[in-house]
Formats: sequence, C-alpha cells, structure tokens
Amino acid sequence: MSGKISASMMCAGPAETERYLKCFERNGVEYLHIDIMDGCFVPNYTLGTDYVKALRKLSPIPLDIHLMIERPEEKLDWFDIRPGEYVSVHYESTRHVHRAIAKIAEKGARPMLALNPATPLSAIDYLTDDLAAILIMTVNPGFSGQKMIPQTLGKISDLRRRLDEMGRGDIEIEADGNVSFANAQKMRAAGTGIFVAGTSSIFTKETDTDTAIRNFRDVIA
Ligand code: DX5
Ligand code: ZN
Repeated sequence: MSGKISASMMCAGPAETERYLKCFERNGVEYLHIDIMDGCFVPNYTLGTDYVKALRKLSPIPLDIHLMIERPEEKLDWFDIRPGEYVSVHYESTRHVHRAIAKIAEKGARPMLALNPATPLSAIDYLTDDLAAILIMTVNPGFSGQKMIPQTLGKISDLRRRLDEMGRGDIEIEADGNVSFANAQKMRAAGTGIFVAGTSSIFTKETDTDTAIRNFRDVIA
C-alpha cells in the first residue's frame, strides 16, 4: 500500500489556505496535519481551536491533529475532534499519557503517540494495545524549515521492526519534520506510512503544488 500524505497546514499562509485546500482535494491528499502549539511544551504558538473549527467549513479532508501542548488530557474537549481522525499527543507532555490516549479513543478518534527525537522506543511498551499510529518527530518540534536529525531514520526502522515483531503491522508510523523528497524516500524504506508534508516538499516554491504532490507521491509509493 502506498504512503499517505498529511499536509502540514502551519506551512500554508492565511491568504493561500483555500487555494491549497482545493489543490489537496484535487490530488486526494489523505489528511490535513494541524500543529497545535502552546508555547510551553514547544517554544512556539501556531494554530488553535478556532482554526480547527474554521477549517472544517473549508474542507472535507480528515484531520491529523498534532497536539504539542502540556497535559493534553485536560484539553481534548476544547477541540472539534471527529471520529476516525488521528489525534496525536506527546509522550513527554503529560504524566498521564495513557489517560490522554484513552480519551482520544473515547471520542472515536484514532489515538497516535508522538515521540520527540531523543525519546526511546520503550515508551510504547504498555501503550500499543490502545494505539492506531505512532508519530516519530524527525526534528525537534516547534518550527517548520528545520533539518532532519539523522538518527531518527534508524529510529523509524527500529520501530517498524519492533511493531512487526509484536504482530502490530496495523499500527501506522508517521514521520514529521523535514520530510523532503530525498528524506521521504529513506523514511519510506524505513517503514513510514504517513508523511507530514511541509515546506521541504509540497509547500515548495520551486514548482506548482499539483506537480509537487505528484512528485511526492512517486517517492512514497
Ligand atoms: C514541526 C512541524 C511539521 C513540519 C513542517 O514541528 O510539526 O509540520 O516540520 O514541515 P517542514 O519540516 O517540511 O518545514
Ligand atoms: Zn506536526
């Protein structure tokens, strides 16, 4: 099965959002990646609860909400979370990560555990029963336009092997951060299934967006 694209909406300026959304619908982009940042868990603010509500009026594409916020279990009800969509919380962002994961599942959404670059894979050991996907940060979270941390590539292949050995081939791996055309190829080979496409790929200024998406699809096929 081919890789799926999760377009990183923090890379779309306000004036271009509707144009990008029409292009993503035309090209069958599978998810819209929504980076929510609280200025505490990560040193940046980006999109928020009102943005999620507004986006729903502009596009039917399912959301992939990436919560880079402290104690997400206390704030999930603030967001318009829909059944079947991905919602990721960071292992490092709460003392009660299982509670956060369980609350996402209670809403009918697909729980995704996000791991910062240095967080060991043992973090998943008592959570896989409750997960639909695992997000591997390939940059330190907070900003677009960064460079992939090289050792995160091996982390993706270690994770894929670990999950397959557990008989959890169903758990998807998402890569987030500097998912460039060249890096996406290596991430695909390492076992990535969902690609957070940002300024390194489909939000490029070098070609039109339709062409960039077609080129990206060839890389993650
Ligand atoms: C990083 C963000 C990503 C991504 C943006 O915190 O979560 O959305 O880095 O895309 P790039 O890295 O390609 O600019
Ligand atoms: Zn993200």
